[in-house]
Amino acid sequence: MRRMAVFASGTGSNFEAIVRAAHSGQIPAEVVLLVCDRPGAPVVAKAQAAGIPVFVAAPKTFPDKAAYERAVLARLHEKDVTFIALAGYMRLIGPTLLNAYPERIVNIHPSLLPAFPGRNAIARALEAGVKVTGVTIHYVDSGIDSGPIIAQRAVEILEGDTVETLSERIHRVEHVLYPETLARLLKKENPMGITYAKERMF
Ligand code: GRF
Repeated sequence: MRRMAVFASGTGSNFEAIVRAAHSGQIPAEVVLLVCDRPGAPVVAKAQAAGIPVFVAAPKTFPDKAAYERAVLARLHEKDVTFIALAGYMRLIGPTLLNAYPERIVNIHPSLLPAFPGRNAIARALEAGVKVTGVTIHYVDSGIDSGPIIAQRAVEILEGDTVETLSERIHRVEHVLYPETLARLLKKENPMGITYAKERMF
């Protein structure tokens, strides 16, 4: 059983979906830590209610990003975390964490990447007038939503959609696609936790 951490900054609906899937056995992993960079974010209370340990700290209270990530890393090591899922974590992952978890960090993004990377992806898709957007799960690299794509699912933009209505449909897809993809990934993973060279897991 993999020991997984979820990183989130906000509401935490994807965090909840992942925790549910881990509890039900859909994902062969245990969520052993929530990392949150925004004290007071709703996701923190959700983790506490679920009895999941939380590391919450504002990065600006550390001398620099590397120092913040070293503190995160210490908690990850303490919890024997071998896999990380970002779920609405509004911060770039730096070299300290990337080097410690090569090809072991994935992210969910509310667009069909490479379209609309970065913030406000749902609103920007609406503004652009595209007829189809969606959800992407990808490996995390040093860029903004730029790592290799693992899975995608399309969501149609309907006549009269607002950011709210579209966000709601995108979230519904996210809550299915993220657990499904994590299950596929973690089932294929080397149980010894040995890093595969550059080979993709699927
Ligand atoms: C999701 O739309 C995810 O794709 C994006 O941030 C949002 C997080 O939502 N990266 P929630 O906090 O999981 O509800």
